[in-house]
Amino acid sequence: MQKSAFPSYRGRMEYVCLGCGARRSGDSLLYTCPDCGGVFLLENLDFAKLKEKSGQAWRDTFDERSATAKPALRGIFRYYELLAPIFDEEDIVFLGEGQTPIIEASGALRDQVGLPFAYKNDGQNPSASFKDRGMACAFSYLKWLCRRQNWDEVLTVCASTGDTSAAAAMYAAYVGAPLKSVVLLPHGKVTPQQLSQPLGSGALVLELPGVFDDCMKVVEILAENYRVALLNSKNSWRILGQESYALEVAQWYNWDVDDLCLFVPVGNAGNITAIMAGFLKMYDLGIISRLPRIFGVQSEHADPVWRYYSVPANLRHWEPVTVRASVAQAAMIGNPVSFPRVKKLAQRFIEVGGEQAFQVIQVKEQQIMDAMIMANRHGHISCTQGGECLAGLINARHLGLLGDNAHAVLDATAHSLKFSGFQQMYFTNTFPPEYEVEPNPGLANQPELLLAEDVRKGKDVATFARLGAEAVVARLGLKSKNA
Ligand code: F0G
Repeated sequence: MQKSAFPSYRGRMEYVCLGCGARRSGDSLLYTCPDCGGVFLLENLDFAKLKEKSGQAWRDTFDERSATAKPALRGIFRYYELLAPIFDEEDIVFLGEGQTPIIEASGALRDQVGLPFAYKNDGQNPSASFKDRGMACAFSYLKWLCRRQNWDEVLTVCASTGDTSAAAAMYAAYVGAPLKSVVLLPHGKVTPQQLSQPLGSGALVLELPGVFDDCMKVVEILAENYRVALLNSKNSWRILGQESYALEVAQWYNWDVDDLCLFVPVGNAGNITAIMAGFLKMYDLGIISRLPRIFGVQSEHADPVWRYYSVPANLRHWEPVTVRASVAQAAMIGNPVSFPRVKKLAQRFIEVGGEQAFQVIQVKEQQIMDAMIMANRHGHISCTQGGECLAGLINARHLGLLGDNAHAVLDATAHSLKFSGFQQMYFTNTFPPEYEVEPNPGLANQPELLLAEDVRKGKDVATFARLGAEAVVARLGLKSKNA
């Protein structure tokens, strides 16, 4: 068997509107339904053909592909047939995204939290967030389109809380002509590290006052009326790429997800949509025999999805919220564009997996920070959104929602370094009051300058080294080897 052969199967992708059910061909880039304005999901009309192969045979195929030397199949497209099986090998953009590790919590951390859990480090993607999964698919699609349409210039645009723009700019920079990247950011609401990313990739970075929800409205007007390619998760090709997260979790646990509880931070709600869609596809193909449980997590400063699901089904009513300052800034979204997708997929998830299969947990800002700091002090590299997941796990446990055999997998959606400013505010007790975070002083960690700057001046290296060593010995109270 030739392990690295590029798949020969091709599907036929169609957009399905979640508002009115209208269908449109996947041959052109659409974001919202021209008939009713609803959001789309993409469907493969030839998905049934994939059922001709057994669940075991699919598991074997994906396991074999993990040894491939073909770049096109090394990342998210290890699961080619389940994602967007229309691309040729030459279309696929691979920048090292996907196949991120799952790191089990150490014994000490597990004991503190009270049950076993792991972090999936999606901050180990190339632009340091999970967004690369979706961008790899969206940019492969753009390459596929450009090849067919002979376009000579395509402006890609997105609004962002920081990570979408970092990923979009990086992939556009790699693909190059005819693509040009423009990103629209809420001024002062992305971290300096996130801002440096699209700047470094050479994108045009435009800022507007307001919050993400405002910028999103602006790019929606642009996408509806002008010739631009929208890269927010309204672009359903991104959702397909992000489904790879679910497939990787299942494969990591040897396709046995029965007792898994996945915790996912919810902002614009694209990620949780994709994760549910990915598990449902595996279930439909017999690749997994049961669904895991999915817990969405939201801060009480940006919690429209939690509010919707926190009341009994007959009282539910969708209402966007006005966000307040949140340390989970990347998920600080009051009007998530993918909410209709969540509703649809959560319904199916519950039909298949029971009432417990999909739930949303609310957490406090304080809990998010405390949880992130605790995780990272035990060897993780969690961002604030990953802290949100751990806070969600702790709350879910206290609410009695987790059984004895539960094993949690938390999505550290970005690398901790992107959000180090919040850690700094925690360590220096400088949170503006609107965040409502009171740091635990016992966790503050600051560098200590042992010698004044001018002590170095005029001394040779040996003399300075002796002074430096004496200062370290005094600080640590070290005992001599000869004592
Ligand atoms: N975590 C991180 C690190 C994010 O960047 C985002 C979203 C989320 C969680 C929430 O995921 O939107 O799929 O529910 N960031 C977007 C952006 C909105 O513009 O980078 P979601």
